[in-house]
Amino acid sequence: MTLLREIYHCSVCGNVVEVVNEQAGELKCCEKPMNKLSAKKEDAGQEKHVPVVEETNGCIKVKVGSLEHPMLKEHHIKFIEVLTADQVHRAELKPGQKPEAKFCVKKSDVVEVREWCNVHGLWKV
Ligand SMILES: [Fe+2]
Repeated sequence: MTLLREIYHCSVCGNVVEVVNEQAGELKCCEKPMNKLSAKKEDAGQEKHVPVVEETNGCIKVKVGSLEHPMLKEHHIKFIEVLTADQVHRAELKPGQKPEAKFCVKKSDVVEVREWCNVHGLWKV
């Protein structure tokens, strides 16, 4: 059973998928059940992952995290998502870019902000 907006990871090949239509079936990849990711909320250690949200002229800017996260090929932020009650906004990032994105969403409409690091997984605020 999947739920809308859940994110799953394949421990074999590294595929990451987001549910856009929840159903009773189980997600499998590489002949194994995929792992549902739970977003962490508190940073521990030197690298910071919890998204920082700033309001800018009716939009928001999201930075990862309180200390800029690395954006190296082997360790980077792959995407940042902003969730409202009925929309999912996603910025896809690449190594070498800054780990931040601007979304024209009112801060008061935001229900969750999350990001996925290719080494350390899913984080939210
Ligand atoms: Fe990381």
